[in-house]
Amino acid sequence: MQKAYIQTFGCQMNGYDSQWMKEILLEEGYDITDEVKEAGLVLINTCSVRENPENKVYSLLGRLNRLKRQKPGMIIGVGGCVAQQEGEAILKRESSVNMVFGTDCFFQLPEMIKQVKEGKRVVYTDWLERHRKIQNFIPDEKIESARIEGNKAMIAITKGCDNFCSFCIVPTTRGRLVSREAENIIAEAQSLIKKGVKEILLLGQNVNSYQTHQFSFAGLLKSVADLEGLTRLRFTSPHPNDWDNGLTDLMASHPKICNQIHLPIQAGSDRILELMRRGHTVMEYLDKVNYIKTKIPSISFSTDIIVGFPGETDDEFEKTLEILRAVRYSHVYAFKYSSRPGTKAAEMENPLTEEIKQERLSKLILLQEKIQEDLFSQLIGTKQTVLIDNAHPKENGTMNGRTDSNIPISIPETDLTSGELAEVFITRKKQYSLVGRLVRRLPH
Ligand code: SAH
Ligand code: SF4
Ligand code: F3S
Repeated sequence: MQKAYIQTFGCQMNGYDSQWMKEILLEEGYDITDEVKEAGLVLINTCSVRENPENKVYSLLGRLNRLKRQKPGMIIGVGGCVAQQEGEAILKRESSVNMVFGTDCFFQLPEMIKQVKEGKRVVYTDWLERHRKIQNFIPDEKIESARIEGNKAMIAITKGCDNFCSFCIVPTTRGRLVSREAENIIAEAQSLIKKGVKEILLLGQNVNSYQTHQFSFAGLLKSVADLEGLTRLRFTSPHPNDWDNGLTDLMASHPKICNQIHLPIQAGSDRILELMRRGHTVMEYLDKVNYIKTKIPSISFSTDIIVGFPGETDDEFEKTLEILRAVRYSHVYAFKYSSRPGTKAAEMENPLTEEIKQERLSKLILLQEKIQEDLFSQLIGTKQTVLIDNAHPKENGTMNGRTDSNIPISIPETDLTSGELAEVFITRKKQYSLVGRLVRRLPH
């Protein structure tokens, strides 16, 4: 049997797209392998959000180039965000690459592979019809074929972004915002639940910008949460601008919607937020956060931060640290600003040195580690609801799971099994996870 290898960079949306690619390749008769050396077909799903992940793609292509010299028949495909952006240029630059396909084109993989086998080099970067704001970018006839691993699954509900933040390349690589029809999403959710999925993660670059004739984001969230057989529902990433108190009230009242919100703030000063074109002030963000905290006391927040945006002063950076102290996030994804071709910020004055960016990043990480440690310490001695994922790979008799707020937890010496929901007493913490013991099994 022919073997295929898929390497994924970037965000969860790319992870979701790669799952579909895998599905398509299985239907085409390929076996999926974790060993690139065994593969006759290699697909790279790329990310260009910062320079770093983009560089990784080119260094991987360098290694593949050498491998291909030993295996001349090997097909190499570059897909995803770098592919969407660079298109034909990748074929010119990398002689080993046979096909380049953008973020809207992976369902066309079978016809691309066919053409490559006929000796062609192909580029597929056309957009689906983006003038339509509503579009079932996962075709109806494909939905039943979504296979699962474990008891969790992701479902994309929107694709693309209309916000054009000044630093960000995503609107270029993912196109304009489109929302999927609710029936199409619910059919995918039901199909996954029937196959044993307990937890669903709704995905979108701006998940709460979801809007169809039928539903707002809150309406869709409720419809999915109400589905029989589902235990937990999460979503990511919501944009602060589209967050309203109604959404908070829905989360507070619906036990299946997990008490976890990833709400990117990016920076702590109003001047930088404006330069970033984020569309809100620090106060507006904090008002929303504070309302959420009063309605859902057990809420866990995470966020994205960019340090060293062009012209960011020491004082402005300090304000970002203040936000961390005020919100007390359980997790912060912090990045050094990276200039992206074609974005507004790439033309801005006073870019900061790598040294200053690194210094600020290290300072921020140090503060966040302390906050996270305090938050985890406070959980010792409390009871948490845990969904069991799988057996610990090394410790016999230990099961791994996640709390409602998505913190990893291990439970030693237990007979709990994957997919069970349990109340767990937290006995101690490790650096990035908790340890607990079973109090009781919960119905779900
Ligand atoms: N739609 C989400 C973000 C998606 S991109 C939102 O608006 O909140 C994921 C994260 O990558 C961003 O939140 C940002 O923190 C980071 N990022 C995007 N472009 C970047 C750049 N040019 N340099 C550094 N970090 C960047
Ligand atoms: Fe990028 Fe801004 Fe869109 Fe997020 S909202 S994907 S940061 S342009
Ligand atoms: Fe990267 Fe594309 Fe996601 S640029 S972060 S893979 S949308």
